[in-house]
Amino acid sequence: MVPLLLILAAFLASEAAATAPVKSSKYTNIGQDGKLFTENIAFETPAFSTLYCALLCNQHETCETFTFVQEVCRGHGVFVTSDTSFTPADGARSYVKNAISKPKDCVEAQRYSNESGVVAIYPEDDSSPLQVYCDQDTDGGGWQVFQRRQDGSVDFFKNWTSYQDGFGNLTGELWLGLDVLHMLTSRQSYKLRVDMVQDGGTKGNAIYSGFSVNNSNDNYRLRLGHFTGGNVEDTLFHQNGMQFTTLDADHDTSDIENCASLNYGGWWYNDCYSCNLNGIYGLGDSGGVWWDVSIFYSLASSEMKMKPLKSAT
Ligand SMILES: *[C@@H]1O[C@H](CO)[C@@H](O)[C@H](O)[C@H]1NC(C)=O
Ligand SMILES: *[C@@H]1O[C@H](CO)[C@@H](O)[C@H](O)[C@H]1NC(C)=O
Ligand SMILES: *[C@@H]1O[C@H](CO)[C@@H](O)[C@H](O)[C@H]1NC(C)=O
Ligand SMILES: *[C@@H]1O[C@H](CO)[C@@H](O)[C@H](O)[C@H]1NC(C)=O
Repeated sequence: MVPLLLILAAFLASEAAATAPVKSSKYTNIGQDGKLFTENIAFETPAFSTLYCALLCNQHETCETFTFVQEVCRGHGVFVTSDTSFTPADGARSYVKNAISKPKDCVEAQRYSNESGVVAIYPEDDSSPLQVYCDQDTDGGGWQVFQRRQDGSVDFFKNWTSYQDGFGNLTGELWLGLDVLHMLTSRQSYKLRVDMVQDGGTKGNAIYSGFSVNNSNDNYRLRLGHFTGGNVEDTLFHQNGMQFTTLDADHDTSDIENCASLNYGGWWYNDCYSCNLNGIYGLGDSGGVWWDVSIFYSLASSEMKMKPLKSAT
């Protein structure tokens, strides 16, 4: 124990000059969100303090994050997990090494894992972590999924505040939320990819060179770049430049109807739509989960995903 204690003493001394303890200079406390730290355990050992745990992590070659709970120190190589049901024990504290360990988006998250799943990203350096689903398998990976239909388990005929805040869950049917989409797309430029599967299993995709969602004052107006590829018709383009409409907030360009009420979704309706990915799952009529490959019958699945433009792939 002597060498370790000496190292600890030296470590403490080197940190003593700073007013804040080790965690603020080398690590960021990300709170009790222990569910981010249940995988990729590099080591697990009894420890008597958070500081000691930080020291162990600091010395460990592959340790990027650590969790200290009930006198147990757990170091992790990565903070990616697909386990969204984990409830952290009382008093759990998780820390992440500054700078090197804070992916801003799903592309940066590839430094830690190339497996698709739920990841904590940090859109701003000092922001709290935002949990998102990264698709690391499709088209070079780095895609953040913000919309998913796959089984009809979630009702998408929802009101304005629901679409603002988001609903569903990251690994199932999902609408991430207009506020988050605006926040993310106002920080950096994204492209958009839509993946869809028809009932018979035929796959389709559409890719756009730009994607942004404006602020709430502009009712989350959609801005798309060019249609740059894919094997389906460019139907989303008809919704480009439209504000968002829900059953209780009509911002579409139809004089007569609320297009959301008519088509059972929330969407960037014009008068009314050429695709309707937030419609009713399985509905074989207008108002179903539509792209125009599947007119009058619902798609079996759809995913809308975004990826920073800056990346090479
Ligand atoms: C993920 O893949 C990229 C590109 O192949 C590679 O540079 C990166 O090291 C991989 N990440 C991990 C954690 O293996
Ligand atoms: C919107 O829907 C949510 C969830 O069903 C509900 O809690 C909320 O009160 C609704 N808001 C309005 C303004 O109707
Ligand atoms: C999230 O969705 C998945 C897939 O549908 C499901 O297995 C899981 O139970 C859901 N989790 C929650 C918390 O609803
Ligand atoms: C976003 O909305 C603001 C009004 O809040 C408007 O001035 C601006 O032009 C809009 N930006 C885009 C790209 O539509």
